[in-house]
Amino acid sequence: MIKIAPSILAADPLNLERDVKRAAEAGCDWIHVDVMDAHFVPNLAYTPDAVRRLRETFSVPLDVHLMMDCPETLLDAFLDAGASNVTVHAETGDVSRLIQRIHHRGASAGVALKPGTPAEAVKPYLETADLILAMTVEPGFGGQVMDERVIHKIRELREAGYRGEIEADGGIREDNIRVLAENGLTVAVMGTALFRNENMKAAIMRLHRI
Ligand code: DX5
Ligand code: ZN
Repeated sequence: MIKIAPSILAADPLNLERDVKRAAEAGCDWIHVDVMDAHFVPNLAYTPDAVRRLRETFSVPLDVHLMMDCPETLLDAFLDAGASNVTVHAETGDVSRLIQRIHHRGASAGVALKPGTPAEAVKPYLETADLILAMTVEPGFGGQVMDERVIHKIRELREAGYRGEIEADGGIREDNIRVLAENGLTVAVMGTALFRNENMKAAIMRLHRI
């Protein structure tokens, strides 16, 4: 069964508690929290305090995606806040010490790749990363169209022997998720396709049957 992680970047910022409650009651597996620093990506989003409030209010695992040039500056703040999984981008440099730090703090660690970054870039982390996040859009905004080139990259990671979670993020919908699953995807981040859906519960039930 594919894990479904609604991305709260697509939630209503004025009704975040309502929208996360809806996703949790709809049976999502994780909540995906995008963190943006206006440098690594041209946008700003979510703080350690927001993660703390989500942690205090909901029991669903929090999947924190750090789109930051210097993730080490706030890594401990997000771990203190209660992140269940923290993902850093391979494009920011050698992230092996960050993976160690995340594990030392008792959380799971992910390494992300932009669409244009080859699978090669995460090969040094295949033994230590619990999750590889293959971005299916250029990071920074929701509502974009999925980049089909990434399907091949997901298959390449499985053929390289990676047995951890493979997550995809960006432009995923019910009509394009199956090919990702057939090539090795285990976690789907979905923003627009879920938060704009009248019946999120039925959608997640269908997705869990894939
Ligand atoms: C984009 C973010 C994604 C985004 C997904 O940089 O990392 O999590 O919110 O939203 P959709 O599903 O609308 O593309
Ligand atoms: Zn994300």
